[in-house]
Amino acid sequence: MTAMTDDLQTLETTAISELSACTEEATLIAWKSKFIGEKGHMKAALGKLGTIPKEQRAAFGQDANKVKVALETAYACAVSVAKEAALMASLNAAPLDVTIPGRRPTQGRLHPATQILREIYQIYGELGFQVYRTRDVESDERNFELLNMPPHHPARDMWDTFFADAPAGTVLRTHTSPGQIHVMREMCPNPIRVILPGMCFRNEAISTRSEIQFLQVEGLCIGEGVTMADLKGTITAFARRMFGPERQIRIRSSYFPFTEPSIEVDIDWPQDDPNRDRLTKGTGWLEIMGAGMVHPTVLRNGGYDPDIVTGFAFGMGPQRMLMLKHAIDDIRLFWQNDLRFLAQF
Ligand code: PHE
Repeated sequence: MTAMTDDLQTLETTAISELSACTEEATLIAWKSKFIGEKGHMKAALGKLGTIPKEQRAAFGQDANKVKVALETAYACAVSVAKEAALMASLNAAPLDVTIPGRRPTQGRLHPATQILREIYQIYGELGFQVYRTRDVESDERNFELLNMPPHHPARDMWDTFFADAPAGTVLRTHTSPGQIHVMREMCPNPIRVILPGMCFRNEAISTRSEIQFLQVEGLCIGEGVTMADLKGTITAFARRMFGPERQIRIRSSYFPFTEPSIEVDIDWPQDDPNRDRLTKGTGWLEIMGAGMVHPTVLRNGGYDPDIVTGFAFGMGPQRMLMLKHAIDDIRLFWQNDLRFLAQF
């Protein structure tokens, strides 16, 4: 045993005993640089290697290495003990209650407009109608001309229209009625019983009863011997199922260029609702659809022979129906995306 080896042992003993007093990050770091850092005692001891006699160098080198590994291992161990202690201390300071119930994610739901559309599909499905989709962007020809409204026909004033510049003659459909032409041309000469749901657009003053964007559901039934009685029966059956047997339905005569004769259908606003007068302009009734027997010219434009087949058509407003069902006093609420409103359905 040489004096140098003694020094190594002293170093190890001192270092280990000092380490046992280090329990926090700061003191551990100080210990590390004092003993095993770049300018630490261990490095200094190894630096003496050149000063000792050649024959003792190998043995000293080995001993020094052992001490170095021992100190590094002890340091790593002390660090992990300190970390564990710090974790336990923080858990004890602010205990974690694993029994607290989790936060519920908010659940989405169907928009009321989607809900009523599905109800409508269900009812007309039971009455034998299929759902047929048509386009939102239409040609002037289909939105007006083929529905018996030539250019400059004054009846066009019934629909304030959004026109697009290009391609010329493009409009945002003002009603779902152009869908009648699409279906007829696809199905002719077969009989038809379809509903055509979709968004419509009108360049109108926005009010509690009218929006520039709204849903419509068109209905079309074509075949031999279809009469006005079938139309009234279908509408009444629908209204009974949608609004319940106690609600009143009123059918008035009206005018549309693409039906002859034409009617409009109203439902009575909930009797006990304080907004009844305002929303029904004092009448007690809210219109939910226009309808009538398909005009012979329209049948011909769809490819059918009006001497052989007849048909009825209707166009109804699902949002108006929602208003009637729930006494909603403002149609603008539907597209404002206010969750306080939407979450009620
Ligand atoms: N398209 C008409 C409107 O939007 C409604 C309607 C549809 C009337 C079908 C008669 C037949 O005002």
